[in-house]
Amino acid sequence: MKIFENINEWKKFRKEHPSSMGFVPTMGALHDGHLSLIKHARRENEKVIVSIFVNPTQFNDPCDLDNYPVDLDRDIASLKELEVDYLFLPTKKSIYPEDYNCKVIENNLGRILCGKTRTGHFDGVLTVVMKLFNIVGPSRAYFGEKDYQQLSLIKKMAANFFMDVEVIGCPIIREADGLAMSSRNVLLDKKHRCLAPWFYKILKNTESIDLKKRKLEEIGFKVDYLEKHDSRLYGAVFLNEVRLIDNVKL
Ligand code: PAF
Repeated sequence: MKIFENINEWKKFRKEHPSSMGFVPTMGALHDGHLSLIKHARRENEKVIVSIFVNPTQFNDPCDLDNYPVDLDRDIASLKELEVDYLFLPTKKSIYPEDYNCKVIENNLGRILCGKTRTGHFDGVLTVVMKLFNIVGPSRAYFGEKDYQQLSLIKKMAANFFMDVEVIGCPIIREADGLAMSSRNVLLDKKHRCLAPWFYKILKNTESIDLKKRKLEEIGFKVDYLEKHDSRLYGAVFLNEVRLIDNVKL
């Protein structure tokens, strides 16, 4: 696996290697959800590139950014095992040379659900994804459906800015007990990890939203939101300060 840290070096290399390129952007702390995106990319492209960049502009809470799990050595070992061709590891300074004065903003879907309770979150996501697309030059890019709102916004951005990339959504990968895989799951202590699967169990049952909220709160979740949008039920909860999100098709 070839590792690129320098944007210009990668761009030069990409020009000289015009093969179809599957791209999996990540913030690291890789889990089986990411690995399934990489396998999708592997099947559909000649080459696969993964980026690891903990994007500061999508964190509305500095403590959340400080606590975000990082394990680069383990990530590199997993990527090598999956025979990923290229790893892109940019620095914050190289991604934001202009200090984040130039942003991508979506004012509709980006302002509800997670966009309502995490101010500026999707501005940060869309901005970094546009930058990464422009640098990497992917043929296809892969995102998990756990972050369904993020996936919809990225599809919308790519279409509205006539970007030459196919944005592909991949199914949520769950633990055996139903908990959606997420880098944040490692932040749960033993007690809260045991409670976490109730989020999906309650989200997918047929009860009213009010009853679901009450049940989650009785168990110990702090509900950020549970809301229907476009025939999908979206939820975000906190369990001992760890934020979990999930969604189900209605
Ligand atoms: O889903 C993520 O890990 C991030 O939001 C992404 C798409 C890599 C942008 O930083």
